[in-house]
This record gives sequence, C-alpha cells and structure tokens, in this order.
Amino acid sequence: MSIKSEIILEGIDLVKHFGGGGVLSSPTVVRAVDGVSLQVKRGETFAIVGESGCGKSTLGRLLLRLIEATKGDVLYEGQSIRALGSREMRRLRRDLQIIFQDPFASLNPRMNVGDIIGEPIALHGLARGGARRERVSELLQTVGIAPTHADRYPHEFSGGQRQRIGIARALAGEPKLIIGDEPVSALDVSIQAQIINLLEDLKERFGLTLVIVAHDLAVIRHMSDRVAVMYLGEIVELSETDALFDNPLHPYTQALLTAIPVPSPINRKAKPLLQGDVPSPTAPPPGCRFHTRCPHAKALCREEHPKLESAPDGRKVACHFWREIQNAGAGALAAPAPSEALAKRLALYRTWRDRQDKTGASSQ
Ligand SMILES: Nc1ncnc2c1ncn2[C@@H]1O[C@H](COP(=O)(O)OP(=O)(O)O)[C@@H](O)[C@H]1O
Ligand code: SF4
Ligand SMILES: [Mg+2]
Repeated sequence: MSIKSEIILEGIDLVKHFGGGGVLSSPTVVRAVDGVSLQVKRGETFAIVGESGCGKSTLGRLLLRLIEATKGDVLYEGQSIRALGSREMRRLRRDLQIIFQDPFASLNPRMNVGDIIGEPIALHGLARGGARRERVSELLQTVGIAPTHADRYPHEFSGGQRQRIGIARALAGEPKLIIGDEPVSALDVSIQAQIINLLEDLKERFGLTLVIVAHDLAVIRHMSDRVAVMYLGEIVELSETDALFDNPLHPYTQALLTAIPVPSPINRKAKPLLQGDVPSPTAPPPGCRFHTRCPHAKALCREEHPKLESAPDGRKVACHFWREIQNAGAGALAAPAPSEALAKRLALYRTWRDRQDKTGASSQ
C-alpha cells in the first residue's frame, strides 16, 4: 500500500446534537452533524466545504475529540479515540492540532509569543530552558517571523502574522495532522495566499496531513486533494478535487461552484453563496435536506432521504437524481463554465507562490 493511501483519521457515522439534554439545557436540539463518515489519507489535504452553519467546525472538533460525539467514533491510525485514557489523549493532542480562523481569539493576549509557542513544548516535555527558547526561535523562523519578536504580544502583530504564530504553536508538538478551521477566511486575499502557501510548504517539509475547513471554494481548489461537501450536518458529495470542480454531481456542489465570490479591497464582505438561507439545523427539512433550495427537487426528494452512494468513478453523492441530472447533459447540471472569479483568485494564489519561490518567506 502506498503511503498516500494509508488512512490516518477516520470518522464513523459521527453525530453531534447540541441541547435537548438535561433540565438546564435548551429543549431544542441542534443537529449540527448528523451521520458523517469520512476517511482522511496520510499526507493528503482533505477539505470540508459548505456554507456557514453546515456543521464544518463541529465536525472538525469531533475529529479531534475537542467535543464529545453524541454518536459514532473516530479512529486515529486505526485506533478508536473515544476510549483513550488521559496519557494516550495527551499523545493524541500532540499528534493532532488545530488552527482557527481568528488567530487573535485563539492566542492568549497576556502571553508573549515566545511563551505562547513555548507552552506546548513544555506541556509535552519536549525541551527545557535554553533548548526550549532555541526551539521557539526555530519555529518562528519556520513560519517567517523574526525570532527577535518572541517577546512581543499578539496585539503587536498583523492578522497574517498572528496566523503564522498560531501555525508555529500548532507545529510545536511536531504534529502529524493539522486541522485548519477557516484558517484564512479572516485575511485579505494577498495575505491568504501567503498563509495557504506557507501551509503547503510546511505540509511538504514535515510530511503533514492537512484537513482544511472552508466555505471558500477558491481556497479548496488551490490546495486540497479531496473534498467533502457538507450541507446541514451531512456530507452530500465526496470527491477528488479536480473531478468535483470539473463535473460536480450534487446540485448543492453545483450551486456553490457557480457562486464563488471575488472579495475586493473595497468590498471585503463575502456575498452569500446561494439564494435563500440554510434551513435551521433544529428542524432540517424532511427527505433530502437540500430540497427547499434545489432546482431539481421532485416529490420523492421531499419524502425520502438520499443515501450517500458511490458513483462509478469512486465519488460519493447523496442525491436521488444525480444520474438523470448528469444525463440531461449541457442543459441541467453540466459543469459550470469555469468561473472568471475563481480563475482570478487562483491566479492570485499562484502569483504569490511564484513570488515566494523567488524571494523566500515573508513575514507579513
Ligand atoms: N456549542 C454549541 N451549542 C449549540 N449549537 C451549536 C454549538 N456549536 C455549533 N452549534 C450550531 O451547530 C450548527 C453548525 O455549526 P458549525 O459547526 O459552527 O457550522 P460551520 O462551521 O459550518 O459554520 C450551527 O447551527 C451552530 O449554531
Ligand atoms: S435528492 Fe432531490 S432535492 Fe436533493 S439534491 Fe437531489 S434532486 Fe435535489
Ligand atoms: Mg465554522
């Protein structure tokens, strides 16, 4: 078996319902993740995409056991993480790291950067005293921050620099897998390009596996090998990235692809990807959860829940009519014309890549 096909992390029928439990909790149940299974291969970049509120972050947290699942299991290197004791959990925490969208919120404002990055080194007993300081310097250098800035505080850095610090902290325990939960969503496009390319470089350099959570398909297109598309707590399509972009099978994927926004310096606020809101996860529509917004919905869609099934090319899709929609050819759901917006964004990311290759890492 090639190293790439080895499964490092697996979610099995994961369910996370918030609320509805004891006397003090809300009687309304939020079905944030509702029966998700996926396998992440060692060394790949696996993306989880979907509109805001679809359960991406909850799924990311379940995969790391930062929250307990209502049902289901996670296997890390073939072993269930639900039953791990505290010592084994510590090891797991070292191997599996997460970086967040808002690095400012995830970095302790009262600690200087050296201590922020040094903390996991101390926690895992990796180095002490001068050796720890040296390791911190090395990590800062790795992410493109001057080691002389170790005594500065998070507020003294720009957004991009803070994300670099978050990445350095995630790298401190020498992890095997990093989950990035919208790691570039809060940054300007040019800074996004730098952070994305930094993550890709680190992945190569340290043999990491990346799981990238994003609502932005341009980011996914640029950096991921495979993509899981989530809608209201479920995976509706799971595919190699190229196949997904060339020929999306699910109407929701299609809709996402035709609506990739181009943030501009003037208008940074992302437009909604699709018409209409995602229905509430407290009362997901019966049958196919996408039927209230799907242009292809028929009576069956309102009654029967479509299972995630395998297409002949190995992709997975949850739609009663994906074959018919495909067969309708150019009319109904042919691949969208390559979006000009997507092309522009990707060109930006690549331009930065080329520039970085020539000049080395930046510390923006
Ligand atoms: N701790 C929580 N308590 C109650 N509801 C939550 C909690 N965390 C997330 N949710 C809800 O679960 C749904 C999925 O949220 P989330 O996983 O953050 O989605 P995404 O990351 O795709 O935007 C949302 O409706 C959100 O409000
Ligand atoms: S099952 Fe029906 S409503 Fe759901 S995506 Fe397919 S066609 Fe649309
Ligand atoms: Mg989220």
